[in-house]
Amino acid sequence: MGTPLTKNDLAVYVSLLTRQKIAFNYLLNSSCMGNRDWGRRWQKKLMRLLESLGSMGVRRLTVSTPYLLERVKAAFPEFYVKIGVYAQIDTPRRARGCEFLDRPDADPRLVEQGYKFMKVVNRIGGGTRVVRRFLAQELAGSTNGDTVTVLDIGAGDCDIPLAVTRWADKRGLKVQFTCLDQNPKAIELAERASARRVWWALAHQTGFGGASPTLQVVKTVQADVFTYQPAGGFDYAVGSMTFHHFTNDEIDRLITHLRGFVRKALLINDLHRCLPNYIACFLLAVPLDREIRHDGLLSIRRGFKPRELARMLAKHDPAPVVRRMWFCRVAGVVRFDRELHV
Ligand SMILES: C[S@@+](CC[C@H](N)C(=O)[O-])C[C@H]1O[C@@H](n2cnc3c(N)ncnc32)[C@H](O)[C@@H]1O
Repeated sequence: MGTPLTKNDLAVYVSLLTRQKIAFNYLLNSSCMGNRDWGRRWQKKLMRLLESLGSMGVRRLTVSTPYLLERVKAAFPEFYVKIGVYAQIDTPRRARGCEFLDRPDADPRLVEQGYKFMKVVNRIGGGTRVVRRFLAQELAGSTNGDTVTVLDIGAGDCDIPLAVTRWADKRGLKVQFTCLDQNPKAIELAERASARRVWWALAHQTGFGGASPTLQVVKTVQADVFTYQPAGGFDYAVGSMTFHHFTNDEIDRLITHLRGFVRKALLINDLHRCLPNYIACFLLAVPLDREIRHDGLLSIRRGFKPRELARMLAKHDPAPVVRRMWFCRVAGVVRFDRELHV
């Protein structure tokens, strides 16, 4: 697009190279497109460029972001696309992780909007309820009053851990969440939300004359879960809408890794890959920016069918429990303490 060559010159150049059996690679890997790559006009221009490159016989392209990779592959599957390292795409996992939120250069305003959208999805779609129900069942038999520790993997802005902690407070249950996320913006939002909760509880205690709530706070950690090594262990691990970010091999690797420091069980609380979920997400995201809609719909396409999740988890637990939950959610539990009970 910024080349000083005319199209004819380029076509001649490419055909000369082809005759010499030298492949030509078109570089489209600026470190920053000024966010124009998200706009329809720029994308139309890109499609026209790719059409004309294709007609010259060019089949190789280097782009700088997973989003562009996805756009190019969707429209021109015949292109062999490389991805540059400007956007820190330095592993196949990152190249596949095309969700806008996963981009290191993502606009913080949109990231915040994305987490707000997830909060709505968790409330309306039952994501918070899945975690609450799981802990309620797990804690039903415990009478010793010990604090139960939970690692929330990919906690985002901590909406689920904070809601579940509030629920536990009201019932006098001691639950300590550690909220882990690799995204610094998520950690910043989580810390702000947690501070708001503390402020509200203290104001309630001192100013409004209500009963003093037993206040439990969440901890936050910024880390990549694949390399995370906590000093102590956890009773449980929970991943809400996080596991669909990973490939099947990565899920296997992650469960093995978690077994090293999670004592009792792992709850995978994720999206059911089905049409009603797709339609609901589309409708819910209509008023939002298209990047958020893109991420939501991609998340559902990457979600799980209960049977395939059960098959995957069976490698780690002889009797994993996988259930469809309200609304278009899938919950899977892998027990790490099973051998202690049989
Ligand atoms: C779709 S969001 C879900 C957020 C939250 N659990 C919820 O339900 O609202 C997935 C989160 O996983 C985080 N994530 C993805 N890969 C991760 C990794 N390898 N280590 C830690 N966090 C990760 C992302 O940064 C993102 O915040």
